[in-house]
Amino acid sequence: MNILKVVSAAKKHGLVGLDIGSHGIKVVEIEFSKRGRVLRNFGIIPTPQDAIVEGSIKDVEAVSAAIKSLFGNLKVKNRNVAVSLSGYSIIAKKIVLDKMEESEIEKAIKEEAEKYIPYGINEVNLDYTVLNTGDSTGESPDEKARSGSSDRMDVLLVAGKSDVIDGYVALIQAANLNLGVLDIDVFALQNAAEISLENPEGSYAIITVGASELGINTVHKGLSVFSRDSSYGGAQITKAIMSEFDVSFEEAEKIKLGGVDLDDNNRAGVEKIIANTTLQWVREIKHALDFVANTYPDEAIEKIFLSGGSSGTPGFQRHLEQETNIPVTGLNPFKYLIIDNKLFDPNYLRHVAPQAGVAVGLALRSIGDK
Ligand SMILES: Nc1ncnc2c1ncn2[C@@H]1O[C@H](COP(=O)(O)OP(=O)(O)OP(=O)(O)O)[C@@H](O)[C@H]1O
Ligand SMILES: [Mg+2]
Repeated sequence: MNILKVVSAAKKHGLVGLDIGSHGIKVVEIEFSKRGRVLRNFGIIPTPQDAIVEGSIKDVEAVSAAIKSLFGNLKVKNRNVAVSLSGYSIIAKKIVLDKMEESEIEKAIKEEAEKYIPYGINEVNLDYTVLNTGDSTGESPDEKARSGSSDRMDVLLVAGKSDVIDGYVALIQAANLNLGVLDIDVFALQNAAEISLENPEGSYAIITVGASELGINTVHKGLSVFSRDSSYGGAQITKAIMSEFDVSFEEAEKIKLGGVDLDDNNRAGVEKIIANTTLQWVREIKHALDFVANTYPDEAIEKIFLSGGSSGTPGFQRHLEQETNIPVTGLNPFKYLIIDNKLFDPNYLRHVAPQAGVAVGLALRSIGDK
């Protein structure tokens, strides 16, 4: 998916994956060689505090300085980047349209989009991909009844708030980079997951829990049938610890990650915050998966892939598995890349794997992809 209207003239296969999260900025470079996909570069740097709020850039100067220093430290020469958005300002939805000529689609999409977008149509950038023009994949029974057969087509509609997109364009410019692809976090993750799939025809969900976004994407036969972002994440836990213990953000992060010795009473307090927060995440995910199961009853989700730095929060994975009755596995985006152990410490990569999914998925993109 690329919701950028103007694409820079970067050459094919020439994109560096740049995931600008609210907690950490990650860079991945992958070389497509004869041997396969080779990891060339990986790095992560903390995002300046409060510089990115609800998926939009609040402090262009601070974030661009961080990106510049990350590219400098890693000696990344390629300036062409693939970046992604997340949060309420970006909406992806599969719609069913009457079959029509390519030239008519744009107008029809605009009309259809107005029904789904909580903003004025002039406030958003629209993009779409025709998923198939034959028998519809992933149609709900409702859609099937309407579509009858192949006189309808599935279209993935993506709408991003223009002011938020403009913020990213300005940020990338300020960091002296060229924006080649502007994707969505959960689609980038789908890209990263696809290289590891044994059965690309199956149905699975990818869940990412970062610092301030919880993304859900359900995929059937390689196509996203449902996706949603909510404002949940690890920052909820950090903030609750800050107020409960009256400590700084850094200290609260340390406490959250188990790096501070606590007495039994305080330890129980932290565990309670974690349990209450992960309960909300599990409920949100269960709610979305139940909706998908009801809407697409023939496409039972066989597997959940977990990503995002907060996916390792104690108890979360087990609880999610219990509530959904679906096997849950961590998505290791490095698993199917060729990695030189002299350049990258395998223990370090294992440690950061949950945070690297989006950046790897972006680095696998090339300009002109859909
Ligand atoms: N081992 C761990 N256990 C629990 N939480 C962790 C662990 N490691 C990192 N985190 C948390 O993960 C979050 C960062 O994850 P990630 O890098 O995926 O977020 P982000 O992409 O910057 O944020 P977002 O996409 O939500 O804006 C932080 O809240 C951090 O405290
Ligand atoms: Mg993220």
